[in-house]
Amino acid sequence: MKREIIFTLNGEEAMYEVRPEWTLLYFLREVCGLTGTKEGCGYGECGACTVIIDGQAVNSCLYPILEVEGKKVFTIEGLLSADGELHPLQKTFIEEGAVQCGFCTPGMIMSAKALLDEKDKPTENDIKEAIEGNLCRCTGYVKIIDAITSITGRR
Ligand code: FES
Ligand code: FES
Repeated sequence: MKREIIFTLNGEEAMYEVRPEWTLLYFLREVCGLTGTKEGCGYGECGACTVIIDGQAVNSCLYPILEVEGKKVFTIEGLLSADGELHPLQKTFIEEGAVQCGFCTPGMIMSAKALLDEKDKPTENDIKEAIEGNLCRCTGYVKIIDAITSITGRR
């Protein structure tokens, strides 16, 4: 049986009909068509499904949809400006060569955004901690850390 919940998705509050057994990841991809959020492992190990809920980076594959009631959810699609311009983090990932296949990239960027929203000038250790739950099979992480560092003005 479906339930109605109200929450804010990418800045717009709305009521949604959901099934209690859905995860947030399922809802985003299969119901809303927000396929920027990726499904990698499906059980909390890879970070490909990372979104921001009330300022915290979380794995949406483990997040029951009913628990988003009343919360603010941001996905990678929510980072675009109104005129479709990429977020500075997205630009710097491209410019620094931090994207190869791109599968991990939305999750990496959401983890980085949650960190930068909390700390203007994170240290390299802060950055490593923020993305420690995000696996990348392509880049070796150095360029990802460089990209996030460059946006802090530390380089
Ligand atoms: S798909 Fe959620 S952590 Fe891997
Ligand atoms: S760029 Fe391919 S998994 Fe990270």
